[in-house]
Amino acid sequence: MTLDDAAVLAARMADYRATRAEIERHILPLATSIDGHAFDVQASLYDLELRRGGYVVLEQAGRAWLGQVTDLGVAARPAGGAGAPGTDAVTVRLAMGSGVVLDGDGTPFHDATVRPAAPAEVGERLGRGPARRAGLTVGELLLAPGVPAVLDSGGLGRHTFMCGQSGSGKTYSLGVLLERLLAETTLRVVVLDPNSDYVGLGRLREGADPALAARYAPVLDEVAVWRNDAAADHPLRLRFADLDLAVRAAVLGLDPVRDREEYAVLSDIVRSQEAGRPLITDAEQLLRAETRGARELGQRAVNLGVLEWRLWGPDLPSLVGELREPTARCTVVDLGSLDTLQEQRLVAEAVLSTLWEARLSRRPCLVVIDEAHNICPAAPPDDVSRLATERAVQIAAEGRKYGLYLLTSTQRPHKVDQNVVSQCDNLVLMRMNSAADLADLGRLFSFVPPGLFAGATAFGLGQALVAGKVLPQAAYVQMGRRVSEEGGGDVPATWAARRG
Ligand SMILES: Nc1ncnc2c1ncn2[C@@H]1O[C@H](COP(=O)(O)OP(=O)(O)O)[C@@H](O)[C@H]1O
Ligand SMILES: [Mg+2]
Repeated sequence: MTLDDAAVLAARMADYRATRAEIERHILPLATSIDGHAFDVQASLYDLELRRGGYVVLEQAGRAWLGQVTDLGVAARPAGGAGAPGTDAVTVRLAMGSGVVLDGDGTPFHDATVRPAAPAEVGERLGRGPARRAGLTVGELLLAPGVPAVLDSGGLGRHTFMCGQSGSGKTYSLGVLLERLLAETTLRVVVLDPNSDYVGLGRLREGADPALAARYAPVLDEVAVWRNDAAADHPLRLRFADLDLAVRAAVLGLDPVRDREEYAVLSDIVRSQEAGRPLITDAEQLLRAETRGARELGQRAVNLGVLEWRLWGPDLPSLVGELREPTARCTVVDLGSLDTLQEQRLVAEAVLSTLWEARLSRRPCLVVIDEAHNICPAAPPDDVSRLATERAVQIAAEGRKYGLYLLTSTQRPHKVDQNVVSQCDNLVLMRMNSAADLADLGRLFSFVPPGLFAGATAFGLGQALVAGKVLPQAAYVQMGRRVSEEGGGDVPATWAARRG
C-alpha cells in the first residue's frame, strides 16, 4: 500500500465513522406494541435515558401511557433502513429493548415517542384504583425515588421466595416486611430464626421513624420469642413425647428395617399411654424405664449425646403446645440460641410438623424460614433434616388451602429443595452475582419479565426485584428502614478502624 492509498483509506474511515455517529445520534426513542401491553423500544445510545426496570411515558396522537422498560441491550443494524441516502454500507449501533405498558387499555401503538417518566408521574399513574386490602409500604421504587413501594398484603397468601447473596440485606429487608405485615394486618407469623436475627421484633429501635413507630407500637406486646434459656420468658424446650415416631427414631438414629427390634420397642413406647399421658415424656426416662428394650434405647441416646441436649424440658410449657393453641400473634423460634445443629434441625422439624398437624384449625399463618438452605435443604444431611424438608415440601404443596403460607429466604437458591422453590408465587430477589443462579431463577419465576433479572447483579444494599402476587407490576425496590431492633446481627467491623 502506498502512502497515498493509506491516506485515502484513512479519509474513508473517518467519513464512515462520522456518518455512523451522525445516524446513531439521530435515532429516535420510539416504541411499538401490537397488543397494547408488551412493547419494543429503540433509542440512541448517545445520552441514553432509558434504564432496565425504569419507567417511561409513551405518547402517541395525544394519548399517553406509563410503561416500564424490562430489558435493554445494544444492537447493531444496517443503516440503510434509516433512509439516509448513501448509507447502505453503514452499520449503526443502537439501544434496543422491550417493556410493558402499566396502565394501558390494550390499544396497539406504533412509533410512540418514549421519554423517562418523572417520579410524580409514576406515583400518580400507578396509584390508581381502590385498595381492598392492606398495603405494605416496604420502601420506595428504586427508579422512581419518592414513590412508595406498596405490596398487596393479600399476595402473601401465596408462598414467597427471597434470595440474594450474603450481605445483600435479606435479613434486614425480611424484617421490614414482617414489621409492616404485623403492623398493618392480623396475620399470624411464626419465624424459624437460625441466626437470632428476629429476637428484637418486640422492641423499638432507637431513632425509629416516629410515624412508623406509632403504627408498630401495638405489635410490641404481640411478639413472643422462644429462646434456649431457662430464665427466658419462653424457654425453648421440647418433650420427647411431642415428637412423631419417625422423628423420635431419627433422633435415636434408628432405621425401621435395619434396627427392626429397637424400632419396635420405640413404636410400643409411642403407642402405650397411661390415662392419656405418654409413659415416656422425656428422652432421659428411657434409661429408667421398665419396658423391655427401653433402657437399650436410653443407652443409644446417651451414646449419641442426645440426653445432654438442653432442649429437653418435660415440665416447662412446650413450644409445640403454643403452636397448637397459639396465644401470641408472632412466635419467633430462636434456633440460633440452641447449642447444637442437631437440636436446631429437630426444633425446625417439630415446628413444621406441628403447624402441618394443626392445619385443620385453618388459622392463617405465615411461616418464615430464614436460611432455608439449612432448614429444607435439597440434600438433607441427616434423617431429622430429611423429615423437616418433607414437611416443608408438604406445606409448600398443600399448605395454602389450610392457610399456611411460606416465606423462605436463602443465599443459595439451588441448595433449597426445589419442590419448595417451585411453589412460590412471589419473588424478592436481592443482589446476586451468580449468572447461573440468575438463569435458574429466571426459569423458576417465569412470571417475571426475564430482562429484569440482569439488574440484580448491580443492586446495592437493601435493593430488590420484587414480583408476583404481592406486586403484580414487578419493580426494583429500595427497601425502607426497620422500626424494631435488629437482633443477633453481625460482629461490628470496628476492628478495621485505623489505630490512633
Ligand atoms: N436497607 C438497609 N438499610 C440500612 N442497613 C441495612 C439495610 N439492609 C441491610 N442493612 C445492613 O447491612 C448488613 C447486611 O444485611 P443483612 O440483612 O444481614 O444481609 P443478609 O441477610 O443478606 O446477609 C447488616 O448489618 C444490616 O444491618
Ligand atoms: Mg441473613
